[in-house]
Amino acid sequence: MIELDAINPNNLKVLEVINQKTIPKEVRSFSPQFYKETLQIGPLAQYAYFNNVCVGAVRCKKETHNKSSKLQILSLGVLPPYRKYGVGSQLLEHAVNTAKEIGSKEIYVQLPQALESKDWFLVRGFTELSDSSNEETAVLVHPLQ
Ligand SMILES: CC(C)(COP(=O)(O)OP(=O)(O)OC[C@H]1O[C@@H](n2cnc3c(N)ncnc32)[C@H](O)[C@@H]1OP(=O)(O)O)[C@@H](O)C(=O)NCCC(=O)NCCS
Repeated sequence: MIELDAINPNNLKVLEVINQKTIPKEVRSFSPQFYKETLQIGPLAQYAYFNNVCVGAVRCKKETHNKSSKLQILSLGVLPPYRKYGVGSQLLEHAVNTAKEIGSKEIYVQLPQALESKDWFLVRGFTELSDSSNEETAVLVHPLQ
């Protein structure tokens, strides 16, 4: 059974563990500010529980340009033994629904071109933005309206 729940001060450290174990080191490092802000963004950060065990997390950031907003996925990871059970898809669905609820026009993620999970996003409604992508980094966008 997969359930999602908010991140709170008592379990925030779990996000560090999940990110260390899931997001490749060369991809990005997360600052203390990243974790501090996680507690201030409500549904833009969420844990996934598989049979009551916390096994994954998504953390997004809202960006506002003029009057429209976009949601960026900064991290989305599921612990390796718990992959392929649909946990990642539920976290992504949560992020997409949250983006729609707050009126964002799109949700996007920036990844190294070589990252395996690029294809995972591409089969889930994301397309590569050719003019912002380059040899090293892909920008994958999912329009919402
Ligand atoms: C990407 C990730 C979140 C997916 O989590 P997950 O819980 O395994 O996802 P789901 O179970 O919902 O989806 C698994 C499905 O995707 C498929 N899949 C897995 N990796 C894939 C890939 N690289 N390309 C295409 N499909 C892939 C699986 O075969 C499976 O398909 P099935 O349901 O038909 O069997 C997980 O692999 C992960 O944490 N990766 C490392 C972190 C990362 O790269 N995050 C993204 C950048 S922030």
